[in-house]
Amino acid sequence: MTQFNNKLAVVTGGCSGLGQGISEKLATLGAQVIVADLKTAEQGAQFVATEKQQGYDLHFYHLDVSVAEQVKQFGEWIETNFGLVDYWINCAGISIITPFLQHTEAIWDKTLDINLKGQFLCCQIAVQQMLQKHQGVIINLSSESGKKGTNNYAAYCASKFGVIGLTQSLAAEFGPQNIRVNSIAPGVVYTPMWEKQKQAYAEKKNIQADEVMDYFANKIPLRRIGTLADIANIVTFLLSDDASYITGQTINLNGGDLMF
Ligand SMILES: NC(=O)c1ccc[n+]([C@@H]2O[C@H](COP(=O)([O-])OP(=O)(O)OC[C@H]3O[C@@H](n4cnc5c(N)ncnc54)[C@H](O)[C@@H]3O)[C@@H](O)[C@H]2O)c1
Repeated sequence: MTQFNNKLAVVTGGCSGLGQGISEKLATLGAQVIVADLKTAEQGAQFVATEKQQGYDLHFYHLDVSVAEQVKQFGEWIETNFGLVDYWINCAGISIITPFLQHTEAIWDKTLDINLKGQFLCCQIAVQQMLQKHQGVIINLSSESGKKGTNNYAAYCASKFGVIGLTQSLAAEFGPQNIRVNSIAPGVVYTPMWEKQKQAYAEKKNIQADEVMDYFANKIPLRRIGTLADIANIVTFLLSDDASYITGQTINLNGGDLMF
């Protein structure tokens, strides 16, 4: 199996859900992993301690990806303490399900600021460091909702469609410098994000909250929702040299729910 010894990886939003699963897998494969997350320093220290008990060696940095100055300082902190980054995975994100006419300006701004501007800001730091190394791989979290619009999800869909455009632009611009940039488009994976929003989704579909995951599974050709392992496995592949000819792509991970 691919090993990532001597590789430095940054995972934003790595304290929870998909980012946590990816961070754990990368640490298992030998990478030095910096988890950058909105969680407080205290929560971060607790997170690192718990992960350590489970055999995962992770580093934590408190970061709001939507604040340019914080992202810039994070980049400087990485260089000073660890050197230049090899891999950057943009997982930090939020999701708000609400009817379009109830989408406030605040919902729109917050969603776009974290999900899209945050990735833009982080990609700038990643690219600056990777240019100095003459190599690097970036993976941006888009979504099935970045390829197909669904109702009550305008801001989220707009942000995730935007991620694909950002990804393709950077892949085109920095391919000649040996920097690969791809995104992934998961369907549904049960994480704290879904725990928070399953009630809103149930209301949208007129079903019970505890029926939501079965509802998804039953309409997916492979008849199950995704797992953290499904996501971490494809991320590992995209980071590895086995994927050295793949850039500018958005990889579907949805059990066949969406096929374009
Ligand atoms: N879970 C799914 O079904 C699914 C499907 C498709 C795409 N995604 C995307 O995957 C990513 C991770 O989703 P998840 O389900 O693991 O969510 P999650 O809520 O479990 O984790 C998100 C993490 O991002 C952090 N975060 C939020 N705002 C931040 C900010 N401003 N700065 C830094 N960190 C911040 C949170 O603290 C949290 O640790 C998101 O971008 C999401 O849109 C998730």
